[in-house]
Order: sequence, then structure tokens, then C-alpha cells
Amino acid sequence: MTATNAILLELDRVSRAFGGVRAVDGASFAVRKGDIHGLIGPNGAGKTTLLNLISGLIRPTGGSILLGEARIDRLPPHRIAALGVARTYQNIRLFPELSALANVIVGEHLRRKGTTLQSMLFMPSARREHEAARERARALLARVGLLDRAEERASILSYGEQRRVEIARALAADPALLLLDEPTAGMNPSEVGAVGQLVMEVASQGQAVLLVEHNVKLVMGVCRRVTVLDFGKVIADGPPAAVAADPAVIAAYLGAKP
Ligand SMILES: Nc1ncnc2c1ncn2[C@@H]1O[C@H](COP(=O)(O)OP(=O)(O)O)[C@@H](O)[C@H]1O
Ligand SMILES: [Mg+2]
Repeated sequence: MTATNAILLELDRVSRAFGGVRAVDGASFAVRKGDIHGLIGPNGAGKTTLLNLISGLIRPTGGSILLGEARIDRLPPHRIAALGVARTYQNIRLFPELSALANVIVGEHLRRKGTTLQSMLFMPSARREHEAARERARALLARVGLLDRAEERASILSYGEQRRVEIARALAADPALLLLDEPTAGMNPSEVGAVGQLVMEVASQGQAVLLVEHNVKLVMGVCRRVTVLDFGKVIADGPPAAVAADPAVIAAYLGAKP
């Protein structure tokens, strides 16, 4: 990966207020194609709000968001998904009664513009297509180390396993940009290492990852660039080493760590 990678996502003075709270306050930064881009900051800094703005769950009260050439900040979530943005949630959102495999298959349908699950079922080729979708979903579960859990109901999986299913589901949409909101929360160290490895693999295939993480060691280890939010504002943005040495960051965030 070189410094000349094209910009994939560009935020220009993006703001979002909730009543009197400026959750995101004039944030500008860019994510480049194929980069792993860290987004860190103390609790309440506005990280999840920013992912909600990018994925279209909420709209900014100011500023603009570009994906490639397309302005996406006024588009509904399904349109943004169809343009190649997939995400996971800080609060896991799986279908608890469906199997791990079925949850991943659901993710595939997000990328099929204009093809609903229902219409697929009525197509003569539906069965063949369904088998192919199952195979792709099984391959994704294997990629996150969960093939042996494919048929288990999501609700009985451990917290870390559920997070991995969510990542597999997001990857099923084959996104140009993957948004991960605290993917390692509740994971043991070996699971954390595996997520780091997976994120690097994803990026090596040209997909960009915007990684919201409280695990600073992971962020500093895998990210090519890191943006730091504090009270909704970008207080630092640059290569991990420079960001980690920035006094404002140390004061706002790293300094607060024991
Ligand atoms: N839907 C909402 N309504 C009101 N306030 C919100 C809402 N979502 C987030 N906030 C507030 O915005 C700020 C940023 O929250 P959040 O984006 O969740 O931070 P982070 O993910 O960095 O911990 C917090 O003060 C939070 O209470
Ligand atoms: Mg959050």
C-alpha cells in the first residue's frame, strides 16, 4: 500500500447535535482505499455517532460525507450499503434465533441491489443460488474461525463468537468500506489477535476498514492511519506513531489509561 492510495471516504466538517450535545463537532478526515484506519477516543467522544452518520442511520446537522464521488450524507442506509459500505454494531445486532450461518446469509442479500430474498425464492435457479449463498457464508464463517459453530443459534454463542459472526455478515456484502464498532469488546486475547489478522487480510484485498476500538494496542499495531476524537472534535489525525506521541492525545485519551 502506498501513500498515493485514492481517497474512498471523505468527511468535511461533519457535525451532529442531539439537543444541546455536540456528539460530532466539525469532524474532517479521509479514509483511503485499502487502508486500515483507526478511530479512537474516550467514551462519549462521538465514535459510534460518526459510524451512524457514515452508514446513514442518522443524518448530519452540518458538513458533508463523500464515498468516492458520491455524496452519501442524505442517502438512506440501504442505498449506502448498496454503494459498498457494511458495518458491525457496538451493541450486537444478530437475529438471535437464526443460526450463525443464516445470519451471515442475510448479509449477502444487502449487496444484491433490487433482488429481494423473496424474489430469489421464486426464481427457477433459486435452489442453486441458495446453495451457492450457503457455501459463500460457510467460507466466511471459516474465515472468522467459526465453521464448527455454523449451525448453532446465534443466541447461544459467546459474546466474542457473536462479534465474529457480525464481522462475517458484514464481509458477506463484499464491502469497499467496512465499519467496525469495537469489534474486540468482550474478546479474549487470542480472539483479539485473530481479529487483527482478519482486518489485515481484508485490507490486503483492497477493502478499507474504519476501525473503532478501545484496544489502543491493536489500533497502533494494525492501523496505517489513526484519527482521534474528543468531545466530537478531531484532535489528531496521522500515522499511529505520531498520534501516540501527540500531547493532546496523551492528555485526552492515552493519559487517562492506567
Ligand atoms: N441518540 C442519541 N440521543 C442523544 N444523545 C446521544 C445519542 N447518541 C449519542 N448521544 C450522545 O453523543 C455523545 C457521543 O456518543 P457516542 O457516539 O456513542 O460516543 P462513543 O461511541 O465515542 O463512546 C455522547 O454524549 C452520547 O450521550
Ligand atoms: Mg461507541
